[in-house]
Amino acid sequence: VVAPTATGDEGADIVLASLPTREGWWTAFVLYHGCWMTPQAATSVSLVRAQFAPRPDDVLLATYPKCGTTWLKALSFDIANRSRHPVAGAGDHPLLTTHPQDLVPFIETPFRHLHPLSALDALPSPRLLSTHLPHQLLPPRVAELGCRIVYLCREPKDVVVSTWHFMNKDVVISTWHFMNKVIEGFSIDFDKAFELFVDGCSPFGPIWNHYLGYWNKHVEEPDRVLFLKYDDMMADPAGHVKKLAEFLRVPFTDDEVDAGVVEEVVRLCSFEKLSRLPVNSSVVAGRVGVDERPMKNSVFFRKGKVRDWKNYLTEEMAKKLDAAIEEKLKGSGLTL
Ligand code: A3P
Repeated sequence: VVAPTATGDEGADIVLASLPTREGWWTAFVLYHGCWMTPQAATSVSLVRAQFAPRPDDVLLATYPKCGTTWLKALSFDIANRSRHPVAGAGDHPLLTTHPQDLVPFIETPFRHLHPLSALDALPSPRLLSTHLPHQLLPPRVAELGCRIVYLCREPKDVVVSTWHFMNKDVVISTWHFMNKVIEGFSIDFDKAFELFVDGCSPFGPIWNHYLGYWNKHVEEPDRVLFLKYDDMMADPAGHVKKLAEFLRVPFTDDEVDAGVVEEVVRLCSFEKLSRLPVNSSVVAGRVGVDERPMKNSVFFRKGKVRDWKNYLTEEMAKKLDAAIEEKLKGSGLTL
């Protein structure tokens, strides 16, 4: 067991006991390099930082959880692979039969100490990978090699609502087995989840640090870090699909634009289309999530709307979170 070092190359083990800890959403969270997560996640992240081997042509899709990761994965996969898998193909497009979460793997989950990184090493270049890690926790080689990053953020009030549904209601299938223990499903009331979130204690939180880490990198290196917002993508999906294609270095040709390929990508990756596919609407546990918890495939598709927070937050709560975010983002140039 090795103590964390300032350089971040601490090896696969960390002294969990030495990290600040507090009550989290469903279990205790530890503060690892300024980021709240479960102890299991910290172990996994430290291993990824030590062992993940980036390649210069990797593209990382980075998000704070519940900011539209599934959508960004679907769009990026579709755009990057459209020569092999035409969007208007013969009904055999991978997005029709594979969950978007499975088409672009996370570098840090599920649990790298249980699932070796060799699966990522086996992928052909150029790789599309994803991460929920805040910028300060990315393996240092990612920046050294100049790997490009697409970051997607979202209005924090919608994020807290989406997170609460994900963690509280939709995910848990009564009981699950973790580390030889049977864990009962948990629940957390919305007020408590909200207070933890505003206090910065949410999975991979504080959310403002997550946003700022990538925002500052985007300002420094706009050609390497693309910074997108969920609400803007909802307002102009076609414009964002084109922007994403340019960033991924597979811009749409004039012929493709004239043939409506951009709109086809938007349609195939839309909430309405993806959420109704059998592979994505399964209510049977199809995957494992945090703490090896069984998760329904449908859990990544809830409403897919902007401003759903209005149905959950009181005016007072909204003001409180707005004020906290405004204070933290002050002077950064980032507006949400
Ligand atoms: P809501 O809970 O507000 O509906 P993530 O993929 O990062 O876990 O984020 C999940 C959120 O993105 C959920 O938000 C989900 O409904 C929404 N979402 C999933 N697929 C989407 C799509 N194709 N287009 C827009 N939003 C989508």
